[in-house]
Parts: sequence; structure tokens; C-alpha cells
Amino acid sequence: MKGVVLAGGLGTRLSPMTRVVNKHLLDVFDEPMVYFPLRSLVAAGVTDVVLVTGQEIDQFRHLLGDGSELGASITYAVQQGEGGIADALARAGPQLEGEDAVVILGDNIFQDDLTPYVRAFQQQGGGARILLKRVSPHDARRFGVATVRGEQIIEIEEKPERPQSDLVVTGCYMYDAEAFSIIAGLQPSARGELEITDVNNTYIRAGTMRFDILRGWWTDAGTSASKLKASILVALAKGVTFDAS
Ligand code: DAU
Repeated sequence: MKGVVLAGGLGTRLSPMTRVVNKHLLDVFDEPMVYFPLRSLVAAGVTDVVLVTGQEIDQFRHLLGDGSELGASITYAVQQGEGGIADALARAGPQLEGEDAVVILGDNIFQDDLTPYVRAFQQQGGGARILLKRVSPHDARRFGVATVRGEQIIEIEEKPERPQSDLVVTGCYMYDAEAFSIIAGLQPSARGELEITDVNNTYIRAGTMRFDILRGWWTDAGTSASKLKASILVALAKGVTFDAS
């Protein structure tokens, strides 16, 4: 089982900060954003990690090196431009050598220890597994929204205007090697990207997608508001108090 952290894309929602600095190198409270998904993988026992990023690859190498400081062994892959999350994942393909992968988006921060979910994926014998989280109906529109019936997931809709549920798809995806054949057959969406939601819906239609619902807090840090929220949640988790003086 290998890990993948996706840290490509243009980070336009955090412009102008991201005009010269890759989004995932910006701070979340007192550390670079990319540390958080890396730590989640390492804590779940997934230490062999491929990090996918764009032109800023040398800055990531400077910061993370071989990954040993965080307990990981990192290799790097490059995605040019903003071809989408599924396109970024495809760049890691050759380095996974047919192994199953736990993929985390570089701007996602999880409170939960992901170990039980990774174990459940290992035990399910192939297919895919995603982690869902309940959010407020208004917030759901920013994400992939899942419709579930009992233990079964029926469909994911990417950023719907009228969400059918308050269960959204977080940026942790577990896949067998079939994901790469699925990506190879994808067409770009209306926004010109290869969508991870199309990969997930293909697994759903094949009946091989399972899911868990997270209990702890989860946030992305891809907008100014969510990045601030992420910093506050991380600070509180580290025991910081905000004194009014
Ligand atoms: O955060 C969870 C959400 O992430 C899911 O609910 C959505 O279904 C999923 O599409 C995604 O939505 P976003 O619009 O938030 O994705 P965003 O474009 O912000 O990309 C998230 C991360 O993925 C980004 O921090 C780095 C990586 N990425 C993204 C793109 C578009 C790449 O590595 N390359 C890319 O081309």
C-alpha cells in the first residue's frame, strides 16, 4: 500500500498569495499545509509516498527532502498545469507499481486517525473506499456530495447547486490499480479537468465503492475562509488559547 499527496493545481482561490508560492507551501497555523496530509498517511502506517506537484517541485524537495523528517519516504512526480485531480493522480501511477493507494489532497486536514479506514480498505479486497463527512447544507455546495442508502453509495454529484444530502466527499480516496485504467478513459469536464468524481462514480456503478463517515473535524484549506478555519482548528488542537487583551 502506497500513499499519494496531490499538491499540484494553481490555487487560484488563494490568489495573489499563490501567484509565486504553491498553495500547499503556505502556512496552516505554524506549519506548511502539505505537512498535514503527509502526517495523516504516516500515522496510518502508509510511509511510502508519491508527492505530485507542478513547477515548484524544487521548493518541495527543499522543504521535505526524502521525507525522513516526517517519517516518510517521499518520491516526486510532476503535473504540468491544472488538468484536474484525476490527472494529477495519473502522474503518480508509474511509481505505485500496481499497488493499492491511499490518496490525500494536499489541502485537506483530518482530525481523525485514518488507520481504521485504511485497514478496512485493505480488508475489502480491491475496489475503492472514500471518506465522507456531514457538513451544513450551505457548505455542501463547495464539494462532491454523496447520496447514500444504508451501506450503499448511490452517486456523487460534484458541486451541485441543490445538494441532495449533507454528506460530502473528503479528499481521502483509496483505490486499487483499476483507477488508472478508469482515468485513462476519462474525458475532461466542462471546466477542462479530469474529475476525481468521475473516477469515483465509475467505481460506484461497478458496485465496488465502499465508504466511511468521519467523526472528527475535517476541513480543506483551499479558500481564505477555510484556510483560516484550518489554522484555528489546528491551533485549538495544539492547546493554544486566544486571550482577548
Ligand atoms: O476537498 C474535498 C473536495 O476536493 C471534494 O469534495 C471534491 O469532490 C473534489 O473535486 C475537490 O474539490 P475542490 O474544488 O476543493 O478541489 P481543488 O481544485 O481545490 O483541488 C484540491 C487539491 O487537489 C489541491 O489542493 C491540489 C490537488 N490538485 C487539484 C487540481 C485541480 C492537483 O494536484 N492538481 C490539479 O490539477
